[in-house]
Amino acid sequence: MKKILITGANGFIGSFLVEEALKRNYEVYAGIRKTSNTEYLTDPRIKFTELDFADTNFLDLQVSKLPCFDFVIHNAGTTKAFKKKDYFISNYQYTKNIIDALISKKKVSNKFIYMSSLAAYGPGDTLQHNVVSSTDTPKPVTSYGKSKLESEKYLCSLTEFPHIIIRPTVVYGPREKDLFTIFKLINNNLELLVGFKNQQLTFIYVKDLVKAVFQTMESIVINKGYFVSDGNVYDAQSLGDIIKKQLGKKTVRIYVPKHLVRLLALFSEASKYLTCKQPVLNFDKVNELECVNWKCDNTPLIDEFNFKSDYDLNKGIFETIEWYKKSKWL
Ligand SMILES: NC(=O)c1ccc[n+]([C@@H]2O[C@H](COP(=O)([O-])OP(=O)(O)OC[C@H]3O[C@@H](n4cnc5c(N)ncnc54)[C@H](OP(=O)(O)O)[C@@H]3O)[C@@H](O)[C@H]2O)c1
Repeated sequence: MKKILITGANGFIGSFLVEEALKRNYEVYAGIRKTSNTEYLTDPRIKFTELDFADTNFLDLQVSKLPCFDFVIHNAGTTKAFKKKDYFISNYQYTKNIIDALISKKKVSNKFIYMSSLAAYGPGDTLQHNVVSSTDTPKPVTSYGKSKLESEKYLCSLTEFPHIIIRPTVVYGPREKDLFTIFKLINNNLELLVGFKNQQLTFIYVKDLVKAVFQTMESIVINKGYFVSDGNVYDAQSLGDIIKKQLGKKTVRIYVPKHLVRLLALFSEASKYLTCKQPVLNFDKVNELECVNWKCDNTPLIDEFNFKSDYDLNKGIFETIEWYKKSKWL
């Protein structure tokens, strides 16, 4: 039985990675932390592994007690942080720490998969609307993206550590909590039209992302990065329109001009110190919203792995809404 370690296993994407690994008959080690909510990791075959990425000595000790893995998927990461430097600590320094521990204890026999993001490369150009591809010079526009890029660079600097980098665009699906805000608003007959027009957006349904991860992981390919999207380009209204149609809701549309979005982000950023919660809207998010071209090149996935997404936004949103309803989120 092949062994796999999946970090960030309890999160949105992580929990689907765990399910797929179990389906494929792997012995699954779920990397979590003491405080992690494991409500989606109920299968008794899962071996829970607490990892403290912050304390390198302790991490070395924890890793030394683990078996040698065929594959490690380092999926843990921070998408919302209190301070800019927290992105670098969580997404870069902790990634480096786990890589260094795995290398020094010789715990990866086949391949290390890093869950990066389209944000590491940033948006495409606004004039020609080119699709962002691996041959482009990365131009991240957020601290989050920059921290992901740092990890990619570190990984690529290691000559004898076979890896694959996965760069998903926006991921959606059951259990997802940030985009859920849009579903909730529309369910309450409210639609916010943010003042950034002519956007070209891309999406990937979580199950398709997981499929791409396992296809690349189980192949003989190493040391390459892949953007993952469903291959379609959507405009800024597509997501809201599809949710609205599928929920059968009429909405009051509130147009929020650009400067107001920035102001809201300011309040949102300030409020986090009172509520001690990460807000959905922050300056990083506004920087992303202001960029119009979020197309990415998934043709290498298609050409090399015959990858085909099973879900477009319509089908994926349908399944997502079903889950939100069944789970009484909506
Ligand atoms: N969702 C997207 O649209 C998207 C797009 C591109 C890339 N990604 C990447 O995909 C990965 C998973 O994201 P997600 O959307 O599934 O987010 P999520 O639901 O918030 O899951 C994040 C996971 O990482 C863990 N984690 C976060 N900070 C950590 C830390 N400092 N130490 C240890 N574990 C930590 C979390 O553990 P706790 O539950 O204990 O906090 C959780 O298991 C991330 O690397 C993210 O950057 C996501």
